[in-house]
Amino acid sequence: MAITIKKKSNLDEIPIIDIEPLIDNANILKQTGKKIRDACKNFGFFYIKNHNIPKSHIDTLIPAIQNFFNLPLEDKIKIHINNSKIFRGYTPLGEEFTDNSYDWHECVDFGLETKKNDSNYRKLLGPNQWPQGQDNFRKVLEMHWDLMIKLGKKITQGLAISLDLSKDYFLPFMDKSHSYMRVSHYPPYNNSYKKNIGEGIGSHIDYGFLTILTQDTIGGLQIKNQNDEWLNAPIIPGTLLINIGHMIQRWSNNYYKATVHRVILPKNNRYSIPFFFEPNFDTVVSPLEKFCDKDNRPHYKPLHFGDYLIDTFKNSYSSIIDY
Ligand SMILES: [Fe+2]
Repeated sequence: MAITIKKKSNLDEIPIIDIEPLIDNANILKQTGKKIRDACKNFGFFYIKNHNIPKSHIDTLIPAIQNFFNLPLEDKIKIHINNSKIFRGYTPLGEEFTDNSYDWHECVDFGLETKKNDSNYRKLLGPNQWPQGQDNFRKVLEMHWDLMIKLGKKITQGLAISLDLSKDYFLPFMDKSHSYMRVSHYPPYNNSYKKNIGEGIGSHIDYGFLTILTQDTIGGLQIKNQNDEWLNAPIIPGTLLINIGHMIQRWSNNYYKATVHRVILPKNNRYSIPFFFEPNFDTVVSPLEKFCDKDNRPHYKPLHFGDYLIDTFKNSYSSIIDY
C-alpha cells in the first residue's frame, strides 16, 4: 500500500491532535486522518483535544473513584472479581500479574452491561458489580461509559480515514461494542510488601482495538518509542490519551503496531480510567486485503474477537473461572 509517512526525526513528543473535524464532520477530515496516521506509525499513542467530553464530567470522575478506593478493603472485596463469571469487579493490590511480576495497583473492571435474564456467560455478557451505597460512583461511571462509546466511534472513524478506508468502515463491527472500562488506583509503593512487585503495571500492549485514557495529574505512564527508549507521557490538561491495540495491528497486517507501555511505581496516589473500546464479541478480525500482497503476506489468521478475549482473560485471571 503506497502511503507516504512523514517520519518524525524526533520521537520524544507524543503528538496532540485536534479532533474537532471528526466531531463536527468537517471537510478537513483528511488532514486529521493524516495526523492520526503519522501518530500511529511513529508512536501508537496520541493525545486528543476538542473531544467534546464536558469538563464538568471529567472533573467528577477522579473524586468519584477516590471515594470508592478510600473504602476499607472489606467493603471493596464485596465486589471482588472472583464473584463474577465474566471478569467484572474489584482486583486488590498486587494481584494482577504482568510481565513476570505483580502490579502495584488495585482496580475495578466493568463491561457491557446486560440484565441478569439476558446474561450469556459464554459471550462474556452479564451484569457489572456495583458497590452498595456508592450511587454517585455508579452514576458517574455509567455516564462515562456512554460518552466513551460515542467518542470511541468517532476515533474509530478517524482511524479508518487514517488507513485510507471509508470513514465508516469499522463501524458495523462496533454497533454492540464489547468494550471494557477500568478504574485504577496506584498507591505509593510500600517496600515492605512481600510479593514480587514490578511496576504500577508491567510492560504490555493493549489486547483490543483502541484505549481512551482519562487520568489525574500525577503521571507515570511510559511508552516505548521506536528507539527502544521509555518515554514519559506527560499530563496535558484538557486532552485524553489514545493508544492503538492489537486488533488494529491485525486488521492492518502490522501497518500499525500496538506500542508497549507501562506505569511506573508512583510516588503519590495515582488514579486513572482506561476505557478499552472494542469490536463486537462475534467480530472476526482478519488482515485487510489492501494491506496484503505477494511481498507482504497476511501475518495473522482470522481471529474471533470474543474467543480471543476469553483466552486473554483466562490467562490474566487464571484463578477465577474454568470455562
Ligand atoms: Fe495498557
